[in-house]
Amino acid sequence: MSKQVPRILLTGGAGYIGSHTFVKLRQAGIEPVILDNFANSHPAVIERLARITGAPVCLERGDVLDRAFVEDVLRRHAPAGVIHLAGDKAVGESVAHPLKYFRGNIAGAISLLEAMEAVYLPVGPLGPPTLVFSSTATVYGDAGTGPIAEDFPRRHSNPYGHTKLVIEDMLEAVQAARPEWRIGVLRYFNPVGAHPSALIGEDPTGTPNNLMPYLTQVAIGRRSHLRIFGGDYPTPDGTGVRDYIHIEDLADGHVAALRTLQRTGESFTVNLGTGRGYSVLEVVNAFVDATGCPVPYRIVERRPGDVAQCYADPSRAMQLLGWEAKRTLEQMCADAWRWQSRNPQGYASGMASAASSQATEKENGLLVIG
Ligand code: UD1
Repeated sequence: MSKQVPRILLTGGAGYIGSHTFVKLRQAGIEPVILDNFANSHPAVIERLARITGAPVCLERGDVLDRAFVEDVLRRHAPAGVIHLAGDKAVGESVAHPLKYFRGNIAGAISLLEAMEAVYLPVGPLGPPTLVFSSTATVYGDAGTGPIAEDFPRRHSNPYGHTKLVIEDMLEAVQAARPEWRIGVLRYFNPVGAHPSALIGEDPTGTPNNLMPYLTQVAIGRRSHLRIFGGDYPTPDGTGVRDYIHIEDLADGHVAALRTLQRTGESFTVNLGTGRGYSVLEVVNAFVDATGCPVPYRIVERRPGDVAQCYADPSRAMQLLGWEAKRTLEQMCADAWRWQSRNPQGYASGMASAASSQATEKENGLLVIG
């Protein structure tokens, strides 16, 4: 690998957002090193990333909670920055197992930040510590009607959202103590869809919590019908409204965030959303139109903790990063369906087993697929 190519450490790089971000980074001429423990992702992702991008993938298999390991990875690869996506994200699970979330997400972030301080401070030839962090629109709680801007009050309604809020606060304190830090906080709205190759996509373990994977599993026949949680919200058709963003646009947002941090040296917090809300029924109809698949559904009780509507004011991301979401709801549905229909059981289907047999694992945990 050429020394001129800037490297980036991508924690959680085998996950849904991480894998799509990997592809975009590589296409932008940045070489990502994936750090992942596959706790919530499939090893077959690695081979598929190699196929999409036409080059071997560098993987450090391990846990972000292991500070010594993270520091060693940073020293060996000397990345120009880190995109931190590793963490747990299931709201229901976080209510049932709060300590798993507080430990995994918060201690994971502390471990990474400490390792970065040890390697990048005082600022040396590697440049200042540069971090892009994955936060969530969940930190806004119930923000009422209208688009949500970054300066809206934050609140938490479950342990998962609480961990993201605590990490945001921690990053602010770290920045205040050491102004050398360059930190980009990205608050994601609702990422959906898949890479157009259908080689990578969202592959939730067990019953999906989120709308789009549940919907595609109904369409493929793995589930009998979609339950629409609530038909009596104060929205145009009574179902919940969200800001769905194509995963490819979201991944582009990470590249733009990294470039902006490197160009300006200024930290920021931005929403990554489209600025347009769609109701559950609108998503179902768009999916049926885009794919021709029938989607049986029933309107049931509201899901506890859900808000009526949540959509972004995305203007700050445009202003600071020069980024905006471009892909339509129709593309989101078509790409989500292509992924699901070609991989009915997610990564466990088809080529996955052949893929993992091509992997060669070296002693130090570095896995290179070629
Ligand atoms: C959820 C999480 C949020 C997390 C985000 C992305 C909750 C309360 N919030 O957001 O913290 O950051 O996922 O992982 O879980 N819906 C149905 N039927 C379903 C699934 C969903 O009607 O089977 C509806 C929901 O009521 C909502 C919309 O579809 O109106 C979107 O739901 P979902 O995809 O779970 O996302 P959020 O609830 O916005």
